[in-house]
Amino acid sequence: MNILLTGGMGYIGSHTAALLASAGHRVHIYDNLCNSNIGTLDRIQKIASQVIGFTEGDVRDTEKLTKVLRDEKIDAVIHLSGLKAVGESSQKPIEYYANNVQGSISLIQAMQAVGINTLVFSSSATVYGDPVYLPYDEDHPTNPTNPYGRNKLQVEEILRDLSASDSSWRIGCLRYFNPVGAHETGLIGEDPNGIPNNLMPVIGQVVNGKLPLLNIFGDDYETHDGTGKRDYIHVMDLAEGHLATLIWLQSNLGCHTFNLGTGSSYSVLDLLNRFEEASGQKIPRQVVERRPGDLPEYYAKADKAEKVLGWKTKKTLSDICNSSWLWIKNSKKS
Ligand code: WQD
Repeated sequence: MNILLTGGMGYIGSHTAALLASAGHRVHIYDNLCNSNIGTLDRIQKIASQVIGFTEGDVRDTEKLTKVLRDEKIDAVIHLSGLKAVGESSQKPIEYYANNVQGSISLIQAMQAVGINTLVFSSSATVYGDPVYLPYDEDHPTNPTNPYGRNKLQVEEILRDLSASDSSWRIGCLRYFNPVGAHETGLIGEDPNGIPNNLMPVIGQVVNGKLPLLNIFGDDYETHDGTGKRDYIHVMDLAEGHLATLIWLQSNLGCHTFNLGTGSSYSVLDLLNRFEEASGQKIPRQVVERRPGDLPEYYAKADKAEKVLGWKTKKTLSDICNSSWLWIKNSKKS
């Protein structure tokens, strides 16, 4: 298939592009490079041993996007572009609504203009909000507690309404848990511009000397060691989930939602200790106040994706830490 990845130069996108191209698909990346850099393109091509198309552009530029979809004869779109820092979304809600919601509507309009109706949308477990029960299954109430989570839920609702109005659409909404890890080659990994928010890239910046230590946001949660617990999913397992969804959508119409998680959770200290074992690095840390908005624990019920898509995670926490360490070492050199 000819597949367009919006935001394909980013963390999830670059790993998904590498996997799809290695699986024989023709991949074209459309990205405004606001949270990624063009140097990643060569490394994706090296992994996939084939040319990956690229157009620099913003998803809100409907005309430019329509032209790329048409010129590249795109069959399906994976929509990954968007702003994704939960805390920042509360400080800059209009920027988040404009990029994430308006951008998604622009993409849908461009797809309609060209007659493309297969779409995989990068959603998030933040749509669930405070757990009524755990693990979260796809029927768990959705009550996001920040603009970022509301953006993701609103785009899902738009896609459900679109599918209800036009039965020709084939849509998969993938609710990611906590993506971590890097490609086994160490050529690509999580490489956010500026100060990261997420745990693993912060650990990476401590190892690389960009940050003096890791602040652990609270150790008084009701968990086995007091620190927050999350469902950490290896980014390559996540990429496989996108490929499995694309294949399944070839023979299924409608709008469908899937959790992409491991079904288990690890604490901050679990991950930190495993990373220290994998890397042989001691990570200086201090416990500070809880981060506003953080939940004590959440993790996925991942049965539906396994039953319907035939997909489940294969990588372990050690795979995550080993691959992250390889990537951090490489990015330290460059
Ligand atoms: C994980 C754990 C923190 C940083 C977010 C988004 C979610 C998704 C993944 C997009 C928590 C602790 C973290 C640090 C710490 N993104 N932590 N010190 O908040 O679970 O999820 O990223 O879809 O939408 O909400 O991820 O990596 O920020 O935090 O102690 O410097 O690590 O308290 O327990 P989070 P995270």
